[in-house]
Amino acid sequence: MDHALKSKNILITGGAGFLGSSLARKLVALGANVSILDAMLPLYGGNLFNLDDIRDSVTYVQGDILDADLMHSLVRGKDVVYHFAGQVSYIDSKEKPFLDLDMNGKGCLTVLEAVRTEAPHARILFSSSRLVYGKILTTPVSETHPTQPLSMYGIHKLLGEKYCQYYTHTFGMDTVSLRIPNPYGPRQQMKHNKYSIVGWFVRQAMEGKAITVYGDGSQERDYLYIDDIVDAFLELTQHGKRGEVYNIGTHERVTFGDMVDAVIHEVGSGERKNIPWPEHYEKNETGNYIADTSKIEAITSWRPQVSLKEGIRRMVEYYKTNKKQYW
Ligand SMILES: NC(=O)c1ccc[n+]([C@@H]2O[C@H](COP(=O)([O-])OP(=O)(O)OC[C@H]3O[C@@H](n4cnc5c(N)ncnc54)[C@H](O)[C@@H]3O)[C@@H](O)[C@H]2O)c1
Repeated sequence: MDHALKSKNILITGGAGFLGSSLARKLVALGANVSILDAMLPLYGGNLFNLDDIRDSVTYVQGDILDADLMHSLVRGKDVVYHFAGQVSYIDSKEKPFLDLDMNGKGCLTVLEAVRTEAPHARILFSSSRLVYGKILTTPVSETHPTQPLSMYGIHKLLGEKYCQYYTHTFGMDTVSLRIPNPYGPRQQMKHNKYSIVGWFVRQAMEGKAITVYGDGSQERDYLYIDDIVDAFLELTQHGKRGEVYNIGTHERVTFGDMVDAVIHEVGSGERKNIPWPEHYEKNETGNYIADTSKIEAITSWRPQVSLKEGIRRMVEYYKTNKKQYW
């Protein structure tokens, strides 16, 4: 049977990055007509190699989501818009709050305004973050947990969600937001450590370097493999309820130290080095995070499929083959 997204007209902002290119590949395989917009900003994850094997099957445009005229022309006639473009480093968001506001706030608003006027019936899927929750009070974390972000990035991601809900409430637009935990997998940028801690550690291990762990590494995180993230977006494109936000996550209780050990084991080199917590770090530390995913599971058949060990194995294999495209 044909997939519901076959022949649909789709735009992915930030589509040359990690999430966007991984989703694009799956959509092309399902028979969708995929357009990609990416600004290819040097420090972010945009990489044309991510699109190498689908380049002839997608329409690729280099440009900025803040270019309203371009956004209007790109969303015209689209059935689905995945809005992934943005500033992705919570560390940079502290040093460059206005840049973060522009990209994650105004950028999202520009996309929504373009859809409102040019494609008001399109479904918009927004990539939000677990960082909207801030300090974790109880685990597992459900969507009703208080949102008190500890970073400018988290504040502006929450702003993006609120914009989406405003457009649903006021104009009846069809928006859905996903709160993504720590993502990892092939096609993630490996240039620096400001984003994607798993990616950076894989690189450190492949270079035989020490991987530094703050404290005893007992903080729990929810590391979600890219294929599971893509599948969640596809399921919620079809079944997500208008104006809602959904958590996704693994159910695996994995500590930071477990993740580092898995990386070292799969790479076969590198070593773990525990160091004291940096001063003032607690201002950003959310505490243990594990998502309650019962909301998405109640309306879809989505379930995470890839264990941390298996995901890291696939990731290491990818970078061993394609290292020169990412270093
Ligand atoms: N837990 C989290 O905090 C979390 C985790 C993963 C992803 N996310 C969100 O998912 C989305 C995708 O993340 P990713 O991991 O694929 O990052 P990525 O850096 O690999 O991809 C983002 C892409 O957006 C592009 N981009 C940035 N600003 C742009 C602009 N103004 N106009 C056009 N393109 C622009 C970049 O060039 C890059 O290719 C982001 O919105 C990110 O905030 C959040």
